[in-house]
Amino acid sequence: MKNNHASRRNFAYFVLLCAAILTTAVPATASEVNLYSSRQPFLIKPLLKAFTEGTGAKINMLYLKKGMLEWLKSEGKKSPADLILMSDIGNLYNNDKAGLLRGVWSKTLTTNIPDQFCHPDGRWFGLTSRALVIYGSKTRLKPGEVTTYEDLADPKLKDRVYTRSAKHVYNISLLALIIVARGADAAKVWAPDLKDNLARKAQGNDRAQVKSVYEGECDVAAGNTYYMGKMVTNEKNPVQKEWGKSVNIIFPNQNGRGVHVNVSGAGVTKNAKNRVNAIKLIEFLSGDAAQKIYAESNYEYPVKTGVALHPMVASWGKFKTDRAYLSKIARERTNATKLVDQVAFNN
Ligand SMILES: [Fe+2]
Repeated sequence: MKNNHASRRNFAYFVLLCAAILTTAVPATASEVNLYSSRQPFLIKPLLKAFTEGTGAKINMLYLKKGMLEWLKSEGKKSPADLILMSDIGNLYNNDKAGLLRGVWSKTLTTNIPDQFCHPDGRWFGLTSRALVIYGSKTRLKPGEVTTYEDLADPKLKDRVYTRSAKHVYNISLLALIIVARGADAAKVWAPDLKDNLARKAQGNDRAQVKSVYEGECDVAAGNTYYMGKMVTNEKNPVQKEWGKSVNIIFPNQNGRGVHVNVSGAGVTKNAKNRVNAIKLIEFLSGDAAQKIYAESNYEYPVKTGVALHPMVASWGKFKTDRAYLSKIARERTNATKLVDQVAFNN
């Protein structure tokens, strides 16, 4: 009870603090966009600068590392937000499900972004993509031993797999994908079998799983591709280079439906006052110049075809992508979350 009270108080304080930052640091101008971003400023600022230089429209960015949904709900109709930027289809889906986003139509967006990565009514659009790959030990995993997500639940990997919390947005997307690809009954078998293969309780982030492979605690983990780029170039914490070098990237299901590719993306808010400029900003972010910046700065894949990959990302190899629509996968998130509870995956 005490903890709940404290966390509510902390959240309220956080809301007030951030509201103060938004209102005092960024005065309103006639041509502007109020952007709420859970993507990190180092990644977004060069893109916003290029947009403002090209259009003259000022962008007032509020960085919300966590709690976008709660934040927007607390602001209600008075929210100044015109546009949100977030990672993972799950986060975009949850904001949409809460009625916070509005559908927009733009020929530029439908041309630049594959349908697979967009909400069918334009309530969110993928802007960068990342493959959910398997990181396998270079020394303890035999070539061809793991080739699919289904293999992660095979008894041959008993006590050899690590994963982050099954409730994490990335893993709910993975389980939702299994439901779409294999059906609910198959997912009900896959999830507990995967749990049986875990060498410890599901915990930690993507890089922590790879660290555990490096340290010999497990042989296999699943994770997003950009973390490999972040690890092997990490000058601040060079030991992460060794973590990255200890694993191979395995693109799963290459002889079948393909690897699951998720997105970071954007959605125009329901009460956007600067809707036209917000759409212009998404269009800009889906265009060649911005897609190139995205590709170079965070080891992600551009969603627009024809934009060059970062050389390191290209070196990981070409792969077949699962063509299941992200909107379809997102609709199974609720069932995936229920299943995680039913099998007590995190216990
Ligand atoms: Fe991430």
